[in-house]
Amino acid sequence: QKYPEAYEICEKFMLNKQHMDEIVNRLTKEINMGLTRDTHPRATVKCFVTYVQELPTGNERGKYLALDLGGTNFRVLLVNLINDRDIDITGKTYAISKELQEGSGIKLFDFIARCLAEFCKEHKMEQSNTPLGFTFSFPCKQVGIDNGTLVAWTKGFKAEGVVNQNVVELLRDAIKRRGDFKVNVVAILNDTTGTLMSCAFNHRNCKIGMIVGTGSNACYVEKTANTQTFDGYLSSTKPNMIINCEWGAFGDNGVLDFIRTSYDHEVDKQSINPKKQIFEKCISGMYMGELVRLVLLELMEKEAIFKGQTSQSILIKGKFDTSFITEIESDQPGSHRNAALVMDRLGIRTNNEKDLGCLRFICETISTRSARLAACGLVCLINKMNVKDLTVGIDGSVYRYHPNYHRLLTENMNMLLKGSVKFELVLSEDGSGRGAALIAAVCAK
Ligand code: BG6
Ligand code: GLC
Repeated sequence: QKYPEAYEICEKFMLNKQHMDEIVNRLTKEINMGLTRDTHPRATVKCFVTYVQELPTGNERGKYLALDLGGTNFRVLLVNLINDRDIDITGKTYAISKELQEGSGIKLFDFIARCLAEFCKEHKMEQSNTPLGFTFSFPCKQVGIDNGTLVAWTKGFKAEGVVNQNVVELLRDAIKRRGDFKVNVVAILNDTTGTLMSCAFNHRNCKIGMIVGTGSNACYVEKTANTQTFDGYLSSTKPNMIINCEWGAFGDNGVLDFIRTSYDHEVDKQSINPKKQIFEKCISGMYMGELVRLVLLELMEKEAIFKGQTSQSILIKGKFDTSFITEIESDQPGSHRNAALVMDRLGIRTNNEKDLGCLRFICETISTRSARLAACGLVCLINKMNVKDLTVGIDGSVYRYHPNYHRLLTENMNMLLKGSVKFELVLSEDGSGRGAALIAAVCAK
């Protein structure tokens, strides 16, 4: 072993095939609980019905507005579905400050309405009453395509007065309070649903949408007859229903404790939602960097890395951004250029090959575990659908930018599926824009 001290810690994050098979089994059980009417109330993986029962046909046309709240950026988008291949998108990105994320819900929705008003003014569409799809990437219980009640905030959000409210009404109210423009809010959707729809527009065989970004989650195409929490599950003439799994909450009842490390417990304890979103905290971008930082700190304390050097910066929670993992793992073999730059930015100056190699090893450990867990999630859904050939649409900053994530997912899925399923993993472009517009188009019909 090149890095014995680091290995001793990193070993705890390593998942073997047995662990992974067990995770697939446990997730399958949780998903069945979420889908079943009797067990749904106490299920951790909620499997919300989305009221999206059709995939795009390619015949959707027209101009739609879309809002995207819940990823790294808040965006307002104008989407023009031109023909069965071309979609034109223009949009504007706004920062949602920590104050807005954690303050009053009214202020958050007033801000959203203000951005939308400015955007409509700029595009001279204040009175157009354009149909709008609202991508709201948090767990919502839906009772219709345009009715979603926030069950709990996740990721960095905790704005007051929104949980248990229908967020579509909150948006409509904020727009009414201004009274200076008109839009027609026709649909609310999760980013995973948008991702699936957007990918299905070009890949008719797409049956799963997954996000590995700030958070992690997936949706998939289920048989309507299996979605007992949907009132029309026996009478619906439409055979399918997209299910928003909200798999980030997998493990909230302890079923993942057998793989969690003391570092996972620490990350959870320091988060704004302790004991919630346990699977997400092992997988997604909001937490991966912090896991690396905690491992580094322990090695630094033991003076097993960076020769007893330390810095103010590295001691601060959240300072090791997940994008650093991407940068470090993007170093060419034998080079530690990015790794040295990252440490320099954190106030530790070193060219020590062994230390920088060790840093990379820690990053690889955390990203490999993330990809293995996401692979377990995808395999679980593939087995559940019992399909032999499909496309998976994926988005989110971790999948998009990490140099090996796609390969890690593919290898681990093949290992678990034993080559019995043909799958293609595709970066889904702009789910919240294209996907929201495609759903709005179906609704506006
Ligand atoms: C974007 C999608 O590309 O990815 C959003 O359009 C989604 O809808 C986001 O929420 C997730 O990734 P991240 O990294 O921004 O959380
Ligand atoms: C969190 C949200 C979920 C979303 C995911 C990815 O898990 O609860 O709704 O899809 O993040 O953004």
